[in-house]
Amino acid sequence: MHMPNCHGTSLMPPLLRVEGLHFAYPGEPALLCNACFSLDAGQKLGLLGDNAAGKSTLFHLITGLLAPTAGTVALHGTPCTTNAHVAAVRRTVGYLLQNSDEQLFCESVLEDVAFAPQNYGLPPAQAVEKAQQALEACGIAHLQDKSVYALSGGEKKLVALAGILAQEPEALLLDEPTNMLDTRTRQRLIDILHTLPQAMLVVSHDTPFLHALCSGFLSLENGQTTTMPPFHQHQLA
Ligand SMILES: Nc1ncnc2c1ncn2[C@@H]1O[C@H](COP(=O)(O)OP(=O)(O)OP(=O)(O)O)[C@@H](O)[C@H]1O
Ligand SMILES: [Mg+2]
Repeated sequence: MHMPNCHGTSLMPPLLRVEGLHFAYPGEPALLCNACFSLDAGQKLGLLGDNAAGKSTLFHLITGLLAPTAGTVALHGTPCTTNAHVAAVRRTVGYLLQNSDEQLFCESVLEDVAFAPQNYGLPPAQAVEKAQQALEACGIAHLQDKSVYALSGGEKKLVALAGILAQEPEALLLDEPTNMLDTRTRQRLIDILHTLPQAMLVVSHDTPFLHALCSGFLSLENGQTTTMPPFHQHQLA
């Protein structure tokens, strides 16, 4: 099994590898300086970092929403250097945005969740079936006919998650998934994520949630990622 660093010795390339990533927003100082880690198939990694450390920016870079000034993101060992490669990452990696309002865009919940499978080539009826399964898995089948604009914050989060699950990705990037969730829904999210086979990179300030879900941790500090030892009891909130 690969360790979450840049020097894995396994013959199989990791599902996702970030190598020497540098990035700065225009006119701003460097935000990422040589960020470097791997995510293996099925591995669930927590990504820790202070506000403004660059965690969401890193997710944008992985999914090609932003382009690094140097370094690469590789999928199954292939660096994502062309539009086709970026499209492959977006197909393979489901990205749950920090702000669900930026994620939902169709009129109805069912349409929104069915968008990705239809976009990736399923006939409409099968895309709808896939969407209904994803809504069911997230415990929100009853929302399917609602307008996305009429949802609560927590409902939006779960609909957005159903939308990325319907695309059947190999990995999930989850940015603050427990934000806006009440205790019961948060627990339901933990239960759902536990059952999923996908690799996950999870940003959260909810330390007990990360501890419940993840087997390893990265820290993003001063633009660099470092692998952290497992949580100790005193680090839990
Ligand atoms: N489009 C942008 N243009 C310029 N600066 C930006 C832009 N987007 C984000 N930033 C800045 O980049 C820094 C990192 O932002 P980012 O959203 O990646 O942080 P984060 O680690 O996700 O923080 P949080 O925990 O608060 O979500 C912040 O200082 C932010 O103001
Ligand atoms: Mg963020």
